[in-house]
Amino acid sequence: MKACLIHGPNLNLLGIRETDIYGRDTFDEINRKIKYHAETLNIEVRIFQSNHEGEIIDVIHDARNWADAIIINPGAYTHYSYAIRDAIAAVRLPAIEVHLSNVHAREEFRHHSVISPVTVGQIIGLGTMGYLLALEATKHLVERSHL
Ligand code: DQA
Repeated sequence: MKACLIHGPNLNLLGIRETDIYGRDTFDEINRKIKYHAETLNIEVRIFQSNHEGEIIDVIHDARNWADAIIINPGAYTHYSYAIRDAIAAVRLPAIEVHLSNVHAREEFRHHSVISPVTVGQIIGLGTMGYLLALEATKHLVERSHL
């Protein structure tokens, strides 16, 4: 199975950015862990990062042509991008939303996700492990849908 994993804005700065909140794993280290875990699960994962809403939407549209599932950390777009939400709804692929930090324990504006209603579920507050758990969840979801 194939998964499209999307990191949204500012996540390229992980390891440098607010390490007390997001941890010390760098963006490259996180991606290495994702690829390694995907291999052990026999998932082909393609990883994208963009700081631009339109580019993220293009990646979601293109996933329609090759991916079985989407894993997305939309960064701050989580809280207000109806355009990314609509793109996920449009492609009709199972999507899992990941947040490194526990958004509910932070500022009020982070408590609401406009993305979550079009996802299967969210994994929040578990740091890098959230992406690894999301890979397992997508595998389970996709295999179940083939039964
Ligand atoms: C984040 C949480 C968002 O509120 C924030 O804007 C981010 C990262 C997280 O992974 O915890 O950029 O999505």
